[in-house]
Amino acid sequence: MAHDFNDRVIWITGAGGALGRASAETLAAQGATVIASGRRAETLPSAARIVPLAVDITDAAAVDAAAAEIVKRFGRLDGVVTSTNLPIFGDFLKLADADWLKVIDAKLLGTVRVVRAALPHLIASGKGSVVVLSGRGGIEPSPQHLPGSSVNAALILLVRGLGTVYGPQGVRVNAVSPGPIKSPRLDALNAAGTGAPPDTALPGPGLPTDVADAVAFLLSDEARYITGSNLFVDGGGRALA
Ligand SMILES: NC(=O)c1ccc[n+]([C@@H]2O[C@H](COP(=O)([O-])OP(=O)(O)OC[C@H]3O[C@@H](n4cnc5c(N)ncnc54)[C@H](OP(=O)(O)O)[C@@H]3O)[C@@H](O)[C@H]2O)c1
Repeated sequence: MAHDFNDRVIWITGAGGALGRASAETLAAQGATVIASGRRAETLPSAARIVPLAVDITDAAAVDAAAAEIVKRFGRLDGVVTSTNLPIFGDFLKLADADWLKVIDAKLLGTVRVVRAALPHLIASGKGSVVVLSGRGGIEPSPQHLPGSSVNAALILLVRGLGTVYGPQGVRVNAVSPGPIKSPRLDALNAAGTGAPPDTALPGPGLPTDVADAVAFLLSDEARYITGSNLFVDGGGRALA
C-alpha cells in the first residue's frame, strides 16, 4: 500500500543498516524527506529526498543538536524511526557488564534520547509518529542474544508507555518486531551459530522491504488509531511465550 508522506520530515537512526536503509528508501519513494542517521557517515544512504546526517545516539548532546538542526533546516519533524543495533551476542557467562552496557546504551537509551529530543517537534507537527525497531527476541528470547532480547523487551514496554502518555498530545508510538530478515546481521548471527529461531510459519527469511512496509504503515495516517502497539514482522511460527 502506498502512503502519502508528502511534506513530512522523518528522521531514521540506524539508516546505514539493512532495515533502516530499506525504510529510508520506502518512505522517500512515498514523498517523505528522510534524514538518515548513523555513526559512520560513509555508510549512510544519500539520494533524492534522503539526507545523510551522522549522529551517535549514545551522545545525548549530539542527539539534541541533531533534532534542532533538522527542524532548523527542514522546518518541522513529523516522524522518527529508531533502527539501531550492535552485534553483541554469545554465551551468557562470557558476556561482561561492558557488553550489556553497550547494548543498553545504544539501543534502549539511544531510543530514549532520540524520542526525547524529537517529542516537542512531534507534538508541534500534529501528526507525530514514532516507530521503534525491537525484535521477536523481545518476547521469545534468543539464548545467545540475551542482551539484545532483553533490550527489545524493554523497548516494547517503553513504546506502550509512551503511546499512553503522548497519545493525548497527538503523538503515536509503536514498535515493529522483526524475526529473521535477510540482512548482514542475520548472516553474522548464523555464522556465529546464534541465528534467530528458524521456525517461521511462512517461508523465510523475510526481506528488509517487508519491515520497511510495516514501518511506513505505522508512520502513516492509515494507522491513525494505532498506538502503543507491537507489530511482528517475523513470518509467524511457534507459539509466543
Ligand atoms: N535484521 C534482522 O534480521 C533483525 C531481526 C530482529 C530485529 N532486528 C532489529 O532491527 C533493527 C535494524 O536491524 P539491521 O539488520 O538493519 O541492523 P544493522 O544492519 O546492524 O544496522 C544497525 C545500524 O545501527 C547503527 N548504530 C549502531 N550504534 C549506533 C549509535 N550509537 N548511533 C547511531 N547509530 C548506531 C549502525 O551504524 P553505525 O555503526 O555506522 O553507527 C548500523 O547501521 C535493529 O534494532 C535490530 O536489532 C533486526
